[in-house]
Amino acid sequence: MSTATAPAPAAPQTLAGVPALPPGPSAPRAVQTLAWTLRTGPFLDRNRARFGDQFTIKIGDEPPWVVLSDPEAVKQVFTGDPRLLHAGEGNVILKPILGEHSVLLLDEKPHLRQRRLLLPPLHGERMQQYGELMRQVAEEEVARWPRGEPLVLQPRMQAVTLEVIMRAVFGLREGERLERLRVALRQLLDRTTSVATLMLINLIGPGKMMRVNSAIRLLDTVDQLIIEEIRERRGAGDLAERDDILSLLLQARHEDGSAMSDRELRDELMTLLVAGHETSATTLSWALERLRDGGDEYADAVLKETLRLRPVLPIVARRVKAPIEIGGRLIPAGVTLAPCIYLVHRRPDVYPEPLRFAPERFLDTKAGTYTWFPFGGGVRRCLGASFAMYEMTIVLQVMTERLRLLPARPQRERVKRRAITLVPGRGAEIVAEGR
Ligand code: HEM
Repeated sequence: MSTATAPAPAAPQTLAGVPALPPGPSAPRAVQTLAWTLRTGPFLDRNRARFGDQFTIKIGDEPPWVVLSDPEAVKQVFTGDPRLLHAGEGNVILKPILGEHSVLLLDEKPHLRQRRLLLPPLHGERMQQYGELMRQVAEEEVARWPRGEPLVLQPRMQAVTLEVIMRAVFGLREGERLERLRVALRQLLDRTTSVATLMLINLIGPGKMMRVNSAIRLLDTVDQLIIEEIRERRGAGDLAERDDILSLLLQARHEDGSAMSDRELRDELMTLLVAGHETSATTLSWALERLRDGGDEYADAVLKETLRLRPVLPIVARRVKAPIEIGGRLIPAGVTLAPCIYLVHRRPDVYPEPLRFAPERFLDTKAGTYTWFPFGGGVRRCLGASFAMYEMTIVLQVMTERLRLLPARPQRERVKRRAITLVPGRGAEIVAEGR
């Protein structure tokens, strides 16, 4: 019998003890995978109630996942040695699309090497330069919405955030190539994020999935368009005056003085395009579904509360490379530690009445690094967190300035799984009326 199914030990294992996994459900792997995939929240809640703040689950053909919902343990993971805790390895599921150089897939030195170059365009003043673009894209979108009839927000928000990230990445100039890229990218993402695709990935592994799935053709198209754009931009005479992310990355240099190769650029741009829009679109859809014409005075608090109760990703993952003490237990090498965003965000000792949507929570109190982490943490914290908060605040403001948003139906929407993200069940259905 594996240690994962053993009853909880009387005393926690310590460094002096043998590495051991915390207890967890004994249901067969296939049953756990199904519950995780289709009913993520209830599955996590149930295990937390039964086994406490640390439990072990078995998903797909993955090594055991040790789910952590104690903020202290989360802190240990986020501040732990990145050589012992690999995040890139756990993201291999994304490799066929993002490519081997993607910052999301790398670990240790190669990871920091890419991260160093990607950080500046996404922060501070650089990032704020995109504010006008964000507002303009949101205004254009809102102007097209029908008034007084039900409207599904998720695809509209995706259109907004895809447009914003595409223009931030490639620059403002519109061209036929960008139009083709927009269409191909949308199709590719639609194809690869259904529950069916996720199940398939779990069953046969990401490499094989891309071979059997017609997505491969779309991916070729997207690749070709991005590479063409990179090559053309390399030769642009006005590179130094441009402030789009591609132009900035073309001028950036690694510590050894080398520039990013076409392949590196392709993989990082793809990473930003993929990581940088669906997540924000989903959060915006949830914010508006939860908010229901609540006004925009507290956009920042509303977004934080939305990300607390409706985090886009339920966990982040770190693969353990050598035994490491977490939460008073020596965790063996080879397993995945999973700081659980979903469960920590619902702790009643941190958030009284945790299920209540109450943006006021974040008006006077700063969000805690290890109790609010929708963007993950440590050296892997989301590179687009500031960009996303800035963009979502602007879009939310535009929407609530221009429109009164009413629920299309009285019932709240349930959480639905879309590949690795959690989205509103009916896509956030609202009725928009002019102000
Ligand atoms: C509401 C919006 C978003 C959410 C909830 C979100 C969430 C996350 C999470 C949970 C991680 C993993 C962190 C970890 O493992 O500790 C991550 C990583 C990442 N995100 Fe985001 N993200 C959002 C928007 C964005 C945007 C807009 C961009 C780009 C413009 C972006 C780019 C990235 C990148 C590049 C990484 C990899 C960082 C690394 O491995 O070092 N994300 N994001």
